[in-house]
Amino acid sequence: MVGIRIMHTLGIIGFGGMASYHLSQLRNNLSDIITVKGVYDVQETRQQAARDAGLVAYESADAMFADSEIDIVLIATPNDAHADYAIRAMRAGKNVMCEKPVTMSSEELKEVMRVRDETGKLFTINQNRRKDPDYIGIKNAIANDGVGELRQIESRVIGSRGLSYGWRHCKVTGGGIILDWGVHMIDQMMTMMPCKLSSLYCTMRFDTYKEVDDHFHLTLRFENGVNAIVEVATNNFFGKPRWYAACADGTIQVSDWGQPTVTVKPVDAEFVWADEIIQTKMGPSRTMLPRRQSEIETIETPLPDVINGVDHNYRCLVDAIEGKGALAVTAEEAMRTLVVIEKAFESAATGKAIEMNI
Ligand SMILES: NC(=O)c1ccc[n+]([C@@H]2O[C@H](COP(=O)([O-])OP(=O)(O)OC[C@H]3O[C@@H](n4cnc5c(N)ncnc54)[C@H](O)[C@@H]3O)[C@@H](O)[C@H]2O)c1
Repeated sequence: MVGIRIMHTLGIIGFGGMASYHLSQLRNNLSDIITVKGVYDVQETRQQAARDAGLVAYESADAMFADSEIDIVLIATPNDAHADYAIRAMRAGKNVMCEKPVTMSSEELKEVMRVRDETGKLFTINQNRRKDPDYIGIKNAIANDGVGELRQIESRVIGSRGLSYGWRHCKVTGGGIILDWGVHMIDQMMTMMPCKLSSLYCTMRFDTYKEVDDHFHLTLRFENGVNAIVEVATNNFFGKPRWYAACADGTIQVSDWGQPTVTVKPVDAEFVWADEIIQTKMGPSRTMLPRRQSEIETIETPLPDVINGVDHNYRCLVDAIEGKGALAVTAEEAMRTLVVIEKAFESAATGKAIEMNI
């Protein structure tokens, strides 16, 4: 028997770049469960863009919240407006899909969660990069390629163009790279580890604008002993591997976006050292002599086909509204990432490692 789907109706607050992407995903892939009705944006040019796209342009956010047809509100404004709109939307009886970073601070998020619990509405965050193929691919390789326990994992995104324009330059609107790309990469690392975080240390750079960070290098130490590095740079002209995982019995790399996972491990644990020091490219050494091809096994696996993260997050939200499933991303998970970011700022400012228990 084919189940009857309930149609949901969505309104968008903040109709810029990311909301336009949501609109195309919603229209192309989610039209079986969600209709997009209208938009509210503070800029008249964006209100007109909404009309041109066949949407209602509400005269205010409150006018949208008063529309009883709308049951889901997407918040895709600059970061400083997320909390206020989320609270007002839930108080008006709407469920909320909020763009990342969920809020500007853990204090703001606590208030959002209080209102969520008070109103009984659903609140989720678009951490869509949990469905990135490279992220799922590295997790699969660690689990399936016979490389033993994970010891160190490194996640990097490296660019050279500086910070993007507009509100991303200003502290007051939640600019800076750790709140932009960092929140995705830290969320991936926090949800990948099966245990608590026990300490962190962070350095930051402020090369392009003095007010907001454009580079961070964060070391996370987890209770299982795994050391994780997350680095996002905007002013570096050489890349580094997107992922690098050093395990007890092998090493895995994803060299760049879209590239396969490559695992290298020894074929034979028995290993005989040469008696003599050997002349190598790096000078005389036994320790750093590269392995012969016959001594190693290489496993190359294409990245998996994965559902688009935005599509997944909406499908889970709708299932949760209908009581058929759980949210893909919870405020509690977003809180952990936000606390890491707050402590990363503190560590970068003081030059000290910080003990954690989250
Ligand atoms: N999940 C992702 O991968 C991803 C990617 C990009 C951006 N984002 C997030 O999406 C949000 C928007 O980013 P963007 O790149 O679309 O920015 P943007 O500047 O392109 O768009 C923001 C829009 O919000 C409008 N706006 C500003 N203040 C407003 C207010 N108080 N009320 C209503 N509208 C307001 C602006 O006029 C603009 O049209 C940010 O939180 C950002 O972090 C997420």
